[in-house]
Amino acid sequence: MMFSKLKKTMLNMRKLFSKIYTKLFPQYKRKGAIGVSVSYEVDLAETVLEDYVTVAHHSQIFKSQIGKRTSVGRYNKIRSARIGRYCSISWDVTIGAVPHDYQYLTTSALFTRKQYGFIDDDIFSDDELTVIGNDVWVGCGAIILSGVTIGDGAVIGAGAVVTKNVDPYEIVAGVPAKHIAYRFDEEIIERLQKLQWYEWSDEQIKERQILFTNHVDKNLLDNWEGNK
Ligand SMILES: CC(C)(COP(=O)(O)OP(=O)(O)OC[C@H]1O[C@@H](n2cnc3c(N)ncnc32)[C@H](O)[C@@H]1OP(=O)(O)O)[C@@H](O)C(=O)NCCC(=O)NCCS
Repeated sequence: MMFSKLKKTMLNMRKLFSKIYTKLFPQYKRKGAIGVSVSYEVDLAETVLEDYVTVAHHSQIFKSQIGKRTSVGRYNKIRSARIGRYCSISWDVTIGAVPHDYQYLTTSALFTRKQYGFIDDDIFSDDELTVIGNDVWVGCGAIILSGVTIGDGAVIGAGAVVTKNVDPYEIVAGVPAKHIAYRFDEEIIERLQKLQWYEWSDEQIKERQILFTNHVDKNLLDNWEGNK
């Protein structure tokens, strides 16, 4: 009893802390974005968050854009990425792991970072953009290398290292990530890609709840389309 009360108080304090943090650092939100929740010890720079994005504690997000209602778990590192709407990004995920150019004599940043004492100013080169579609689920501990494109509705297995593009609605896992399956058959994927539900308004989503609360198959889509 005592323990659950204490847990509740701690959770409420955490929520309050997140609210204060978001109020103190409104530059992290897109102008006018609503419902954004950024937890404590989050490092955000040059990043745009759309409505209702949540970012859990100890995540670092740099030069990125994150779409509506995407949730970013704890201890994420996201760099130069464009992430769509309604994605579920688990904990300990890295998105946009940039390479060091190993064609030079050294892979160390001796001549790009002034901290080593050989140059006066840092030299930054543009990162390759990493693109994550809408409704993508990224499992815990996954690493997505920079420049990769992940299609809408894809699933990335826990601990995967994604080195190549992933198709819409494809499931990949492993190191390096390999194809496991597609979430649905070809015909359904085609129909879902036309549906683009992630572009719907909140009202439309509410009205069409039946599509979200049943497993997707041909009958569900046929029935829904027939009743439109
Ligand atoms: C990718 C995933 C969704 C696949 O689930 P699934 O469709 O039920 O897949 P299965 O368990 O049937 O596995 C299919 C095959 O892929 C392999 N596999 C599944 N997940 C794997 C992973 N993360 N890494 C490596 N291989 C994996 C299985 O060993 C199996 O291989 P086999 O056919 O040689 O026996 C799931 O395994 C996963 O990684 N989920 C992420 C969980 C997570 O991170 N949760 C955090 C909370 S958000």
